[in-house]
Amino acid sequence: MDQGGTQHWRWTLPAGGASNDQVALDARWSALAARVGWQTEVLGTVGADALRLLTRPAGVDGAPRLLIAAGFHGEEPAGVWGLLAFFERADAALLDRLNLALLPLVNASGFRAGRRFNDWGENPNRGFSGAAASDAVAPSHEGRLLLQHAARLRALGADGVLSCHEDVKQTQHGYVYSLERASAPGAFSRALLAANARAFPVLPDGDVDGHPVRDGIVFNNYDGSFEAWMMECGVARAACVETPGQAPIGERIAAQSAMVEAFIRFPLAAS
Ligand code: NI
Repeated sequence: MDQGGTQHWRWTLPAGGASNDQVALDARWSALAARVGWQTEVLGTVGADALRLLTRPAGVDGAPRLLIAAGFHGEEPAGVWGLLAFFERADAALLDRLNLALLPLVNASGFRAGRRFNDWGENPNRGFSGAAASDAVAPSHEGRLLLQHAARLRALGADGVLSCHEDVKQTQHGYVYSLERASAPGAFSRALLAANARAFPVLPDGDVDGHPVRDGIVFNNYDGSFEAWMMECGVARAACVETPGQAPIGERIAAQSAMVEAFIRFPLAAS
């Protein structure tokens, strides 16, 4: 249900500042990139906004290739800040074991407005795969740019793709959309859910946005989202994690950071 796509949401961050302050966000990413060796490039522009890709190569051959995205929906800021917070404190020795790629803020116009949709009233996390989607729509401005980079993104996320989201309709429960090459959720899905569940009780079984959720997981739901499209492109596994958007924002940011850590540790533990 996306009828809230034009509503504005804003929170005060635990350290002060507004949850939609893109100037502060960009300054922290720039400082981090310079300090820890992230390479920054501009994939293209969406309106007046640069859509940035950060990459950090592994220090060893054959390391897993992981892609993490945040900020598809502008009223879900804990994903954006949680991703940043994790990498600000991450141990370089851990990062050196992985080939990492980040899309730190996909929907910049929505983020600044604290609004789910972009400045064109589009849902940036739909329209990636018209053929398979149950609610096929045209891709957004952001989506069209990402679709142009399909081969690159598929290679960057070959061993896993994570997209950090929130559900602003939820007051206390967390859950996960996951996609695996399997008929039932496996260790990947469970690891992400467990990290979420350390902060928030798991959403009870039932229906969320028209999809069945069981044990906190909506599984193998091909809905035209970025993460489902990445699976269609051939990545090994993908997930969209959801924190409750009406819970205290500090707890949401911490949970998002914990899920980023669980995501990047998964291929290391499995190998
Ligand atoms: Ni979302």
